[in-house]
Amino acid sequence: MGKTNLSMEQLVSYAKRRGFVFQSSEIYGGIAGFYDFGPYGAELADNIKSSWWRHFVYNNFNVVGLNSSIIQNSKLWQASGHVDTFVDPMVDCRSCKHRFRADHVAEIDTNNLTKLNEALADKSCPNCGEKNSLTEARNFQMMFKTFVGPVEDDAATTYLRPETAGGIFAQYDNVRETTRKKLPFGIAQIGKAFRNEITPGDFIFRVREFTQMELEIFTKPEEADKWFEFWKDYCLEWVKGLGISQDNLRWHEHSEEERAHYAAASTDIQYKFPFGFKELYGVANRTDHDLKSHMKVSGKDLNYFDEETGKNIVPYVIEPSVGVERLFMAVMLDAYHEEEVDGEKRIVMKFHPDLAPVKVAVLPLSKKTELSDVAKDVFKSIAGEYNVEYDETQSIGKRYRRQDEIGTPYCVTVDFESLEDQAVTVRDRDSMKQERVKMGELKSYLEGKLK
Ligand code: GAP
Repeated sequence: MGKTNLSMEQLVSYAKRRGFVFQSSEIYGGIAGFYDFGPYGAELADNIKSSWWRHFVYNNFNVVGLNSSIIQNSKLWQASGHVDTFVDPMVDCRSCKHRFRADHVAEIDTNNLTKLNEALADKSCPNCGEKNSLTEARNFQMMFKTFVGPVEDDAATTYLRPETAGGIFAQYDNVRETTRKKLPFGIAQIGKAFRNEITPGDFIFRVREFTQMELEIFTKPEEADKWFEFWKDYCLEWVKGLGISQDNLRWHEHSEEERAHYAAASTDIQYKFPFGFKELYGVANRTDHDLKSHMKVSGKDLNYFDEETGKNIVPYVIEPSVGVERLFMAVMLDAYHEEEVDGEKRIVMKFHPDLAPVKVAVLPLSKKTELSDVAKDVFKSIAGEYNVEYDETQSIGKRYRRQDEIGTPYCVTVDFESLEDQAVTVRDRDSMKQERVKMGELKSYLEGKLK
């Protein structure tokens, strides 16, 4: 026993049973492509976001943050190309009425409808197996449309953002001017994105509402290749630093066919999900495409005056972009371990302490008032800085196992001896070693461990 690979079914059921992920509006039968984070999932997702922010924003003097709105002027999405080209090819089965992503059925990585229809000609329906039942592939707009104000007409139409990047490009000049940044500099954003995916699936891998963590690095065109390489490595190092094993990660360089026409280079960090190696993190060299498009449609001058050469330039953009949900899945899959302890199976989530949803659990040995009163004081003495859980129900063995299963790095037990020696027992999740620590020193002891 040790590192155990979970199947998708096991992951979904574990995530629900332990309060990490629930189906959205489950009591009404759910809604495809939407999920809610439960108490431990919300903590884990927040810890992933805060780690990203610290590594990408706080660690880099030339990166600043932004929090732009989800709904923007629809011209922004025309300029970015999303209104015309943010489509997925779709195909229906005339027999069973199932709907599919045409490129998935055709098994070719292209959005070209002619090529897709050629490849679909001899395919049967993947659901009912019927031959000659598939319609022609056609494009489906993936942005969620909505209306601003009381009148539902074309002028009021806009969209829920399909990526956070658009807001960054639109605020590029305000941020540059107010922060007095010189090239190269970056603008980072964490926020919700919405895509009306034709076939959401694989749990939270492909959903219709998700959270992106995006960074746009603005650079001189001649330095773009260098920064592309730099940020590629930086992203991989951060992912590995979260405790994800290198064996489950690999690079996938996009071929010319795969990448957007404007991108000079594009690569993904792929993770080995139960359904194979799939995109976790994308890094692209988007050239000057975005700023040029926004200059054209908005009419605003977004040139950068290069003091060294005395010339105006349009910066190139390097973009590392990742979804919290995919990282969340990778972190869960990598953390899951089964071990044998004294002839019994123990399940333990070996989360990096930075990511663990609960950092410390305070457990009085029994529910007796004199112990629980002291234990509650111990809780108060360490709570406030990070998530601490207090639990006095069931046997201590069961409570340890419960904490192992949600990946709590340290359990603090208050026993009858504590009343005499003013000390508690601290149990380490991974080694299961126990150490006696004075109550007065507990806070700094744990802070040192959790660093
Ligand atoms: N601004 C660039 C951009 O949005 P993308 O490859 O479409 O690029 C970036 O998305 C990342 O967002 C992906 O690598 C993935 O982690 C995440 N992502 C994209 N679509 C998703 C979906 N439907 N569900 C969950 N995560 C998604």
